[in-house]
Amino acid sequence: MSNYHIKHLEEYYQVYRKSIQEPENFWEEIAEEHFVWRKKWDKVLDWDFNKPEVKWFQGAKLNITENCIDRHLATRGDKTAILFEPNDLNEVAEHITYNQLHKRVNQFANVLKEQGVKKGDRVCIYVPMIPELAISVLACARIGAIHSVVFAGFSATALATRINDSDCKMVITADGSYRGSKTIDLKGIVDEALEQCTCVETVLVAKRIQSNINMKEGRDKWLQPLLDKASAACEAEIMDAEDPLFILYTSGSTGMPKGMVHTTAGYMVYSAYTFKNAFQYKENDVYWCTADIGWITGHSYIVYGPLANGATTVMFEGVPSYPDYGRFWNIVEKHKVNQFYTAPTAIRALAKQGVELVDKYDLSSLKVLGSVGEPINEEAWHWYNDVVGKKKSPIIDSWWQTETGGIMITPIPYVTPTKPTYATLPFIGIQPAIMDENGNELEGNQVEGRLCIKFPWPSIARTIWGNHQRYKDTYFSAFENMYFTGDGSLRDEVGYYRITGRVDDVIIVSGHNLGTAPIEDAINEHQAVAESAIVGFPHDIKGSALYGYITLKDSGEDRNHDNLRKEINQLISDKIGPIAKLNKIQFTEGLPKTRSGKIMRRILRKIASNDTSNLGDTSTLLNPEVVNDIIKESL
Ligand code: WT7
Repeated sequence: MSNYHIKHLEEYYQVYRKSIQEPENFWEEIAEEHFVWRKKWDKVLDWDFNKPEVKWFQGAKLNITENCIDRHLATRGDKTAILFEPNDLNEVAEHITYNQLHKRVNQFANVLKEQGVKKGDRVCIYVPMIPELAISVLACARIGAIHSVVFAGFSATALATRINDSDCKMVITADGSYRGSKTIDLKGIVDEALEQCTCVETVLVAKRIQSNINMKEGRDKWLQPLLDKASAACEAEIMDAEDPLFILYTSGSTGMPKGMVHTTAGYMVYSAYTFKNAFQYKENDVYWCTADIGWITGHSYIVYGPLANGATTVMFEGVPSYPDYGRFWNIVEKHKVNQFYTAPTAIRALAKQGVELVDKYDLSSLKVLGSVGEPINEEAWHWYNDVVGKKKSPIIDSWWQTETGGIMITPIPYVTPTKPTYATLPFIGIQPAIMDENGNELEGNQVEGRLCIKFPWPSIARTIWGNHQRYKDTYFSAFENMYFTGDGSLRDEVGYYRITGRVDDVIIVSGHNLGTAPIEDAINEHQAVAESAIVGFPHDIKGSALYGYITLKDSGEDRNHDNLRKEINQLISDKIGPIAKLNKIQFTEGLPKTRSGKIMRRILRKIASNDTSNLGDTSTLLNPEVVNDIIKESL
């Protein structure tokens, strides 16, 4: 019997040891007992980080949708697979059962085929968070087309770049989308993008907002009439284990976005296994991840991981602030959500609103609270733990990346004792290493350096679409025979990992290495502070000095900013040491953020260095307007 479901700490250690000592046997057992295959593999693993090349379950044949849908029909046909919660509070939620999902995916898959999409073709999916998004992803997988989901908040230029890079022959979109009180003209954005793309032959358009849009003759087709005519039976295409399943773009520190390629079998096994354990999902639980399917979090932990486990997964169309900041908690109460997975930036925004909006709702269904996307600061961690979880729901601070495909370092809830701001222990099968700048592995506990992974796990991205050399340069060249994450990390006295932030965010002040996360933590503890970001700027004596951008909880109030600056530096001094004090503190109305909520330190770094001539592309920011204000008021 394999250890598919880990229930206590000793078991974690025992399974972890096995996964490290005999990785091939370990993953073979998991794959064998918990998935359906058309043919088993000839070899479990082949790898060489120097090439680099990783292959899992070579020779196996399968289709991931048979694992995510068909195999559940006998026992879970009438169970809700996808629970769709619309933007508008008054629109009824839609429960899509496994039977219905099967039918809708097959119909969609048949439409794709009729429109000329074949195995291996790339299909760009630019659809808001409506059921058609998940269904189109699965329909592509059903016929072996490679999906490339582009978050439906990206601009026309960003969309065109991604369509062209992977040479997509079809775009799936909608007539528009709802986002809180706003509607967005998605189809207009697609039309603009396609002026720069010659590869796209067909655009399928789902109806959502009933807007009056332009349909280009011969290219654009309404989806629904095609679905209505399509057969509900579609044989799954039999795929090789290493056939690409999808491409997902992630931005690099420089240059074009990178189209990370994930393949079929390993991705399936790892996303499913991590889902089961990191969320301790049990039959009939209702699980909700608030991410958009346009990000890897949504691919792995709204669609594939949950469905492979026969789970009920919530898909929310709207935003946390509409109709008010209680919406998340309203949904938790309404659908009796058991596992809730969100990002620190959302937690901070909600914490800013005060507890009344949380306490109005019955959150007693919650069993697990997840966090992902950036280091969660101490204050946000405690607010999440105390106010949302009532100190009863463990927080899983899960560290991973688009490139890793699944969760890499995380507490297992009710198994691993948590520690604020620590992602704690490596997941089963994951072998982290902390490296110094000279390429030496720092053994033992209480060390800090760059985070690498020593051994392949099943869902590691296999390449960058069309650019294997860049894949090698980015991830396998900094340290010999290691996957380099780009993050810094420390390992504490008991072996727990804390992610300290991107290594390019490390600032060396007077020869001291300072991670930005702990300093920001200290600042955020000040009761007047909402959010902060630290960057380095050139300094004659120290080499680099620290520049802090700080947003206040109540920016309207007249404050004595000089006193506030002193208090903040005193706090830093107390928490970290005088070395970490800020040279400059600028109070701002907002911080520039990516659509996924990450603070764009690159821009702040340039402003702090008085180098604003070339800020790069700011059009994909969530709030490009704050950039000019920050420049105007910079110190
Ligand atoms: C980067 C990857 C993986 C899903 C969403 C982000 C940062 C992610 C954590 C965490 C500290 C984290 C890292 C990583 N990050 N999770 N729990 N604690 N940092 O995917 O956009 O590919 O970003 O996000 O810096 O490298 P992504």
